[in-house]
Amino acid sequence: MPLVTSTEMFKKAYDGGYAIGAFNVNNMEIVQAITEACAEEKSPVILQVSKGARAYANHTYLVKLVEAAVAECPGIPVALHLDHGPDFATCKSCIDGGFTSVMIDCSSMPFEENVKITKQVVEYAHDHGVVVEAELGTLAGVEDDVKVSAADSSYTRPEEVQEFVEKTGCDSLAIAIGTSHGAYKFTADQCTRNEKGILVPPPLRFDVLEEVSKRLPGFPIVLHGSSSVPQDYVKMINDNGGKMPDAVGIPEEQLRKAASLSVCKINIDSDLRLAMTGTIRQFMAEHPDKFDPREYLKPARANIKELVRHKLKNVLGCAGKA
Ligand code: G3H
Ligand code: 13P
Ligand code: ZN
Repeated sequence: MPLVTSTEMFKKAYDGGYAIGAFNVNNMEIVQAITEACAEEKSPVILQVSKGARAYANHTYLVKLVEAAVAECPGIPVALHLDHGPDFATCKSCIDGGFTSVMIDCSSMPFEENVKITKQVVEYAHDHGVVVEAELGTLAGVEDDVKVSAADSSYTRPEEVQEFVEKTGCDSLAIAIGTSHGAYKFTADQCTRNEKGILVPPPLRFDVLEEVSKRLPGFPIVLHGSSSVPQDYVKMINDNGGKMPDAVGIPEEQLRKAASLSVCKINIDSDLRLAMTGTIRQFMAEHPDKFDPREYLKPARANIKELVRHKLKNVLGCAGKA
């Protein structure tokens, strides 16, 4: 089947109490790992491309890689989404260039400015059969070249969401309820430590999610910054020359709970990076004589695939929903 929008995926996910995984793609191995896992688990999927990914790999290469994956995995719905579109021009370029979904992220701007630019993107996107994700509230962490400190992040204000959705006509809304981008989602002082000395983060603000959902019944909500930062991969990195002290993510059971509520799209990037980097670091340490990139990219791809399968089955709940 050709690339699809996320409209049907979200409707089924909302009604079925699960979420669609939105995984960031930057190269062939990552595209293959995600889509092979989804094909084997019969799962719909959103492949998303950031501004940084377009700068790294080139728009055309990424679209062609995704088209190749669609041809190889004909049985599953695949949407191609722009992650954190910074302005109208970037969104337009992706809408004109084959994407089926875009995010316009003006969450750091004042409310009225956010409404104005989001509305402009929605009008252009809808004229071209493309859907739009917008954002209210600010997440902490790093995305592209923008770094938001925990102090500058802010939860979504539920009293604003209805007016925002009505005025902009956006198709889904990313909200801030305590998730954060990257592998260091919380500082040590925001967390407690368990008996192994591993940081335990503060719980997500399900009260904010509930308030938002009450005001937007049936409307798909999106969670960014939803990597769980698997400690096995953090250890693999640290045991093989890496240095990632106190990397911490969102506990999987909280994401499962969010997926059972109004959250229909859950964004995961950092976990894939950790799986890839940990695997390659270990391979390099164990095989200092090897220099064929295929030899280390192959196990890295296999481990990303295994990680995605786990997310689909045990976290998102979208396995078997294609
Ligand atoms: O939200 C950010 C995503 O993880 C994409 O990261 O901008 O480094 O490609 P990137
Ligand atoms: P993570 O850094 O938690 O993987 O979040 C990714 C994301 O939100 C992409 O938009
Ligand atoms: Zn994000």
